[in-house]
Amino acid sequence: MTNINTLERDILGAVKAAPDEAALETIRVAALGKKGTISELLKTLGSMSADERKINGPLFNGLRDKVTFAIATRKTELGDAALNARLGNEKIDVTLPPRPEPHGSIHPVSQVFDEITTILGELGFAIAEGPDVEFDDYNFTKLNIPPDHPARQMQDTFYLAKQADGSQHILRTHTSPVQVRTMLRQKPPIRIVAPGRTYRVDSDATHSPMFHQFELLVIDEGIHLGHLKWTIEEFCKAFFEVDEVELRARPSFFPFTEPSVEWDLRCDRAVPNQIKFGQGNDWLELGGSGMINPRVLEMCGLDPDVYQGFAFGGGIDRLGMLKYGVPDIRSFFESDLRWLRHYGFAALDMPSLDGGLSR
Ligand code: PHE
Repeated sequence: MTNINTLERDILGAVKAAPDEAALETIRVAALGKKGTISELLKTLGSMSADERKINGPLFNGLRDKVTFAIATRKTELGDAALNARLGNEKIDVTLPPRPEPHGSIHPVSQVFDEITTILGELGFAIAEGPDVEFDDYNFTKLNIPPDHPARQMQDTFYLAKQADGSQHILRTHTSPVQVRTMLRQKPPIRIVAPGRTYRVDSDATHSPMFHQFELLVIDEGIHLGHLKWTIEEFCKAFFEVDEVELRARPSFFPFTEPSVEWDLRCDRAVPNQIKFGQGNDWLELGGSGMINPRVLEMCGLDPDVYQGFAFGGGIDRLGMLKYGVPDIRSFFESDLRWLRHYGFAALDMPSLDGGLSR
């Protein structure tokens, strides 16, 4: 028995005195590990007589429980002490400036996208979309540009590889195929704005092979040029955030509109990169438009004797360059972080007409 008492005293003493967790673990293995003193003791129970076991069983198991408990207690003590020591040593300098958070911003093209759809949404236009990879038929033929028409050369088209059946998809050269898709799907009244990516084989400071356009399409009974002019006027006032604008209409040609009109906006470019609208002696090209050619209505399943409509197509990047003073269209698509930080918009500032479109 003395033997057991000494053992207990020794182990518990060592546990109490253990200076750190590693030392404690060595003691635990020496006592309770597979070959530990207490484990060996427990093994002897098997070869004892029933009477001996009755006495020694509770003793040995009691010793094991006591030691286990003592080790756990010491472990918590040591852990707490280590934590307190660390907390005592660590300091936070609250006068340090905060580490800059990595933050994203809204790309000017997305911003202009949102501004355009917000303005036209308030005017009752629904957003419509079409795919970037388009049927030749929707991009050209149903817009009254048959396969051998010279107007196809006006738009330097990216062609995709021929399909097994001989057909060939293209990258849409304008957002006008969304006119076709909308007319084929929906009966008038139609009032849509279709923003999206467009592609042409072209690249310089004012042309990018991938750029963005937005298309307006209105079809109903009794639609005329006055509706077109009013819509563009209201759009320009809201977009350029001025009370008055002056528009100039120039006759133009597009196979899918008749008559066709291009619109210029009076502006003042006397100070470089500080363009002012509604005044001055310069004119800014806004985009092409016109009354929907009756042939197009017919090809898209609408009766031209009942319905008339207008369409307008403008460049989103161009509008962004003008409004936010970006000199080179290609910089929009270079993903230069310094450029994005300079021209980007706060992520949670959604444009709205009453809250303000831009910052
Ligand atoms: N789709 C024409 C272009 O990209 C613009 C346009 C749109 C003209 C709608 C008339 C009507 O050049």
